[in-house]
Amino acid sequence: MSNPFRPGNGIMPPYLAGREDEILGFEKSLSSALSLPQNLVLSGIRGTGKTVLLRKFEEICTKKKWLFVKREFNSKLNHESEFLNALLTDIIAKTRGISLAKKLKKPLIGFGRGYKEDIEGDFISVLIQKYKGTLGDRLEAVLTDVYESILDSRYNGLVFLYDEFHFIEDGKIADNHPLSLLLESFSHVQQEGLRYYLVLSGLPQLFPNLVKAKTYSERMFTVKSIGNLSREASQKAIMLPLKNSDINFTNELIDALIEETFGYPYFLQFHPYYLIQNVPKKKIGLKDFKEMHPLLLKELDESFFAGRFNKASDSEQKILFEMARLAPEIKFSELREKAKIDKNYLNQILISLMEKGLIFRVGRGKYRFTLPLLEKFLLRKG
Ligand SMILES: Nc1ncnc2c1ncn2[C@@H]1O[C@H](COP(=O)(O)OP(=O)(O)OP(=O)(O)O)[C@@H](O)[C@H]1O
Ligand SMILES: [Mg+2]
Repeated sequence: MSNPFRPGNGIMPPYLAGREDEILGFEKSLSSALSLPQNLVLSGIRGTGKTVLLRKFEEICTKKKWLFVKREFNSKLNHESEFLNALLTDIIAKTRGISLAKKLKKPLIGFGRGYKEDIEGDFISVLIQKYKGTLGDRLEAVLTDVYESILDSRYNGLVFLYDEFHFIEDGKIADNHPLSLLLESFSHVQQEGLRYYLVLSGLPQLFPNLVKAKTYSERMFTVKSIGNLSREASQKAIMLPLKNSDINFTNELIDALIEETFGYPYFLQFHPYYLIQNVPKKKIGLKDFKEMHPLLLKELDESFFAGRFNKASDSEQKILFEMARLAPEIKFSELREKAKIDKNYLNQILISLMEKGLIFRVGRGKYRFTLPLLEKFLLRKG
């Protein structure tokens, strides 16, 4: 019998536990969006299940007759023109269910017979040139022009399922404001009653980035924090997948796993998976877990923590160790006192750690780790 657990990146778990509210909330918001614009931010630290929730949202879009596009963002798309290019490619070429390209191709560009779908990239650059005005004007014009086709196709509207969206930030690259471009254009077309719906998912700095770009983001988006699971949901996450296998965990073991993982979704897959792979028994108990514990941690450290930790330079790693002693919420003032280094230098290090995706700012002078339980890893190591 194969192992039912599925630790990984964006891999659908055997049972998606504890996300009933988010799923129902999204379903309801698609109904509300028929008459009032809706947009959603999913924010949470690494491995909490944002990507798999977006995958679940795909099913809901289909069920509720909304078209959707999905994309994983990265820092290269922080340039306005690259960003617009990605967005237009999504709208024109990636929308599931209908070809919006056809609508634009003929009247606007006059592509004749023989046009191949696989040169969409060229089509986008021609498209950008054909429209006039600022990049925002062009985006708005395209959104307006294709809208009719969406309605003709009898779908309710188009949802953008955008992942790793914290990478997109205004002013990160000089004179480039991709977020303003997005927020302005979407708020305009939504004000006109066009049913486009943004679902932006990423690390916790995502929403502050949006608000920094446009303060009205606060009124445009509902924010859902995706975090660790409740005790009850964690229990289901472990027990239900086991029901379909020939392996049993004792209640004692399940309790210990919930305590050890703090209900973090990735660990709720990783720990049971590891135990089943490495304990050749049908009934696994607390004693087996205790015996395996050092090896399990070693494997977790190597597969989950070490790669990201090693991105930090020596001096950054030293600060990370100091931070681990102050976690979960780390105050700049306390850190400075402990680390005994110059304020500006410490600031530089923190900026670099944020860029490497290891920490994020939670408020003025306060920071947290983006990896669950990183402090424990650091304390084990240090
Ligand atoms: N609700 C859940 N119940 C059980 N397991 C889950 C749940 N959500 C996620 N997982 C598991 O956790 C792991 C991480 O999920 P996912 O990749 O979606 O996280 P993420 O938040 O997108 O992480 P990252 O920020 O690194 O992209 C996967 O192995 C997934 O199967
Ligand atoms: Mg993800």
